[in-house]
Formats: sequence, structure tokens, C-alpha cells
Amino acid sequence: MTAATSIQQAAIDAGRQPLLSVRGVKTYYGNIIALKGVDMDVHEGEIVTLIGANGAGKSTLMMTIFGNPRAREGKITYAGQDITKMATHEIARMSIAQSPEGRRIFPRMTVFENLQMGASLHNMAHFDQDLERVCTLFPRLKERLQQRGGTLSGGEQQMLAIARALMSRPKLLLLDEPSLGLAPLIVKQIFEIIKELNQKDGMTVFLVEQNAYHALKLAHRGYVMVTGNITMSGTGKELLENPQVRAAYLEGGHH
Ligand SMILES: Nc1ncnc2c1ncn2[C@@H]1O[C@H](COP(=O)(O)OP(=O)(O)OP(=O)(O)O)[C@@H](O)[C@H]1O
Ligand SMILES: [Mg+2]
Repeated sequence: MTAATSIQQAAIDAGRQPLLSVRGVKTYYGNIIALKGVDMDVHEGEIVTLIGANGAGKSTLMMTIFGNPRAREGKITYAGQDITKMATHEIARMSIAQSPEGRRIFPRMTVFENLQMGASLHNMAHFDQDLERVCTLFPRLKERLQQRGGTLSGGEQQMLAIARALMSRPKLLLLDEPSLGLAPLIVKQIFEIIKELNQKDGMTVFLVEQNAYHALKLAHRGYVMVTGNITMSGTGKELLENPQVRAAYLEGGHH
């Protein structure tokens, strides 16, 4: 191989490197192991979903990526950088945003102030433009900018949590159960917004979901987690058609 072609090959390999890579990650709560050695990749431009039953460790994986709790073993890299031991606030500066489970908006702050909190980590020059954008995505929030977060309905709080994460213009968006407790119509709207963000803006999405049907329909690829281990992976279509996945997560499910 000539020097030129090896350089080209290196560039191609670099392009194939996942945006987010999780290798052999083990996370504990005290002495109890919650993640038992997780391997997972998310490539740029993908929507990747993680499904699994209650207590499987899905939220733990998402939080471990964000550095809290921290991986006790293994390695997490983002855009080629080792983030395993980085502080949460440093990770947040790396164009990763998180919409955590249970919404975690600031209840005493107005919708507008909540959105400011999402943006304040980054360049305020884009604030008006980004506000306009999330208001277009979520017209409900636009009507309620001065309302306190805590008085929003459950669905509206979920929209606010996602909108707040978007205010930082993330390259990678981590969403923990955006459909939780929402009416089917709102779930549909939220999944359409995720699809639009991915297709129009090229946003990479890691989606933790119990609503396996919707998640697998939307995602390019998926992983199944059972008690701290990844037990299956494949394209969204493959997993949707897989008899084991169907039996465990889809039959009699909420779709
Ligand atoms: N702060 C904590 N302290 C101790 N144990 C915890 C803590 N958080 C989670 N766990 C335990 O770790 C395991 C994985 O929890 P996790 O929240 O990651 O599951 P999950 O897959 O997100 O479940 P769900 O679908 O119910 O949200 C569970 O057994 C849970 O009880
Ligand atoms: Mg969870």
C-alpha cells in the first residue's frame, strides 16, 4: 500500500469510528453491579434505541455516559475522546445533551427560564434563533413561556425537557423514556419530532425506551438490555421481527 492510500484508508477508518462508543462498562451502586460489562456503539447520524424491562439498567447506562454514576470499569469515548473519567459539566460542554428520565425540569422557573438554562452552557448568540426553533417544534411551549415549569401538564413537561436539551444545539441527544406516561397522540408527535431532528438536522440520537414498538420502528438500530447486560442487537426492523423480542417486549404491548 502506498503512503497516499494508507492515509486515505486512515481517513476512511476515522470516518467509521462511532461517535459514541461504550466498551466493557461496569457500573455499581455501592456493592451492587448495575451494568455488567456493556458494549455499545452509536454512529454519527444514527438513531439508536435501547430497550429493556424495568430495572434492566437502561437509565444507568445513559447516566454513566454522562459521568454520574461513573463507570468503575471499561471505557466510553465520544468523538474519539476518552470521556470515561470526565466531569459531568465537562461532558455537557462536548455537544452532548440529555433529557433525563422523570423530566427533571426546574419546577419554580418559567418555561422561558428553563429554556435559558439549557442554552446558558453554550453560545448565547444563537439564543433567539434556538428559542424560535423549539417553539416551532413545540407550539404548546410557545403559548406557555411565562408559565412555571411545575404547573405544566406531564406531556408539556416532557416537551420542555426535550426542548431544553435542544437549546444547547447538541450533536448527540440522549433521551430517557420520552414517551413515559404520555397519551398516544403526544407520543406520536414526540417521535415525529425526533425523526425530524435526525433527518433534517442530522442529529444523532440515543433513545432509551420501554415503548419498544415505537422505538424500534423509529430507530436505525437497537440494543436489548437484560439485568445489566446487552443480550441482543440489530437493526430496528430485525429486532421488531425477532420472536424473542416480540414475546418479551411487544406482545400485548402498548402500541
Ligand atoms: N441510585 C441508585 N442506588 C441504588 N440502586 C440503584 C440506583 N439507581 C438505580 N438502581 C438500581 O439499578 C438497577 C438499574 O436501574 P435503572 O434505573 O438503570 O433501570 P431502567 O432500565 O432504567 O429501569 P426503568 O425502565 O424502570 O426506568 C435497578 O435494579 C435499580 O434498582
Ligand atoms: Mg429508566
